[in-house]
Amino acid sequence: MKILTIIGARPQFIKASVVSRAIQQAGGIEEIILHTGQHFDSNMSDIFFNQLGIPRPDLQLDIHGGGHGEMTGRMLTEIEKALLKHKPDRVMVYGDTNSTLAGALAATKLHIPVAHVEAGLRSFNMRMPEEINRILTDQISDLLFCPTSTAVRNLENEGFSSKPVKVMQVGDVMQDAALLFAEKAVAPAEGELPEAFVLATLHRAENTDNPERLANIVRALNQIHQNQVPVVLPLHPRTRKLVAEQGQALNVHIIEPVGYFEMVWLLEHCQLVLTDSGGVQKEAYFFGKACVTMRDQTEWVELVEIAANVLVGAVAHRIIQECTKNRGRQVKDLSELYGGGKASYRIVELLKKAHFLEG
Ligand code: UD1
Ligand code: UDP
Repeated sequence: MKILTIIGARPQFIKASVVSRAIQQAGGIEEIILHTGQHFDSNMSDIFFNQLGIPRPDLQLDIHGGGHGEMTGRMLTEIEKALLKHKPDRVMVYGDTNSTLAGALAATKLHIPVAHVEAGLRSFNMRMPEEINRILTDQISDLLFCPTSTAVRNLENEGFSSKPVKVMQVGDVMQDAALLFAEKAVAPAEGELPEAFVLATLHRAENTDNPERLANIVRALNQIHQNQVPVVLPLHPRTRKLVAEQGQALNVHIIEPVGYFEMVWLLEHCQLVLTDSGGVQKEAYFFGKACVTMRDQTEWVELVEIAANVLVGAVAHRIIQECTKNRGRQVKDLSELYGGGKASYRIVELLKKAHFLEG
């Protein structure tokens, strides 16, 4: 069986790394990796291939920037060419980025079946580019690998039970990565870090592209850093650009985006996680830390239900208040929420089974 994997953004490298590893261990599947180029700085891309042992991409498109339509359209054109050339039995896409949607759409138009890893997640906020990408990708996938029972329920509510596709709860590949690579944790090389700190990440378009929300978050982080505890912030290039453009000043401990092993170290050593990332919300939990999420909704509702995570939107006093309240609080990992580290193994088994049945 020949599978063509399409990835392009930081979280997809981390997710694909464990599935690629499981594919190699299982044998019997040839995997071709296509990197769209959506993320391209070495600390947003190469570092993950090096650290996590992801095979070098067989195909590198170098498509990034521009508006959503332009980026997705250019990817669609070039992915179609690659699919016509390599004729895979199946395409596999991850998550909810523009690379995900372009890959799924190019494949399905050529009648190549699509497997979607991280299917069924919903924020119910159609203003998020990710929500559009994931809804459309789910609609044109025939193997829907869901990370949680909530994701399965979301798809059932959208009528997937009566469609000729397979919806399967396999667990979360990010938990596989966290368990597999935890022992590789290493302190970031850049400068001396404060002894005690909270870890922040910030990049979501709904925050960075909205001057009012961004100003509130910047104000909250600055106040926490000045009055409470140092805030260590590996700064996403999108945020660096928009903070500068909007004339704001982030007075916290900023470092460049770090590799996964450094990120694991920061997660292990911080007192709390402040984030608007999807993946980092779960990683806080995997590493036993409380999480304060600077968004109005989350796709990972189970963490809010068990009070491991609290949603505070972009409201400065809420961010500060919940940081004070939750700092140093340990959360318990009830690993059955996310499958216990076996998601990639299950995905590969199911890929093989589907191929056998397709005959
Ligand atoms: C994308 C995904 C988002 C995901 C995030 C992970 C979409 C719509 N969004 O958002 O769901 O959470 O990746 O990090 O697909 N840039 C660089 N260097 C890089 C990468 C990006 O300078 O290596 C710059 C780009 O030129 C652009 C900005 O950062 O100006 C945003 O990049 P883009 O890939 O469009 O979206 P992200 O915000 O990274
Ligand atoms: N991450 C990383 N270095 C960083 C910031 C994040 O390795 O400087 C990892 C993080 O641990 C998680 C993934 O990148 O595994 C999350 O990606 P991101 O927050 O960019 O995207 P999202 O999950 O929100 O789509």
